[in-house]
Amino acid sequence: MKRIVLFASGSGSNVENIIRFFKDRPEITVSCVLSNKRDARVLDRCAALDVSAIYFNRHAFYHSDTVLDFLRSQKPDLIVLAGFLWKVPENLVEHFPDKIINIHPALLPKYGGKGMYGSRVHQAVKENQERETGITIHYVNEAYDEGAIIEQVRIPISPEDGVDDIARKVHELEYKHFPRVIAGLLSQD
Ligand code: GRF
Repeated sequence: MKRIVLFASGSGSNVENIIRFFKDRPEITVSCVLSNKRDARVLDRCAALDVSAIYFNRHAFYHSDTVLDFLRSQKPDLIVLAGFLWKVPENLVEHFPDKIINIHPALLPKYGGKGMYGSRVHQAVKENQERETGITIHYVNEAYDEGAIIEQVRIPISPEDGVDDIARKVHELEYKHFPRVIAGLLSQD
């Protein structure tokens, strides 16, 4: 049995999609979801789906071993950031080499880095009149959005597409491809 731990900060629609995808697959399970936002919608989604979810604060993450110790106890095969907005501290990255992945809602290295999240990304893509955007699934290292790329999927944008249209298209790509890529990584070892 392979175990996934998910991190999320907000709505958690990707978390829900991933949980549903693996629900009927006995070889892979989502063991727990962690959130740094006490009132994040992702926590309600987990409750409705009967999946354990835990809130942690800045001190637990950056200034103690609380989150690290908890993760160790979970023995995750993969740690998946799905809309998680805090930078992962070095001690976690060092502890779980090649085991932490993230999804970014654009084609990195474009539109990445600190402050580039949510609709800000799609806004920038629109302002630059890009003809395409997409998703990037990558390993997490000490720098924001700079870890090795695992997979990118592209989608065309038309000039008529507004920021919301771009966001919707990208979310659809995420729902379609993120669980598949996770399953692929877990079937490798
Ligand atoms: C997604 O677009 C993901 O790429 C980004 O944060 C967003 C999370 O959306 N990292 P949701 O909370 O899963 O709806």
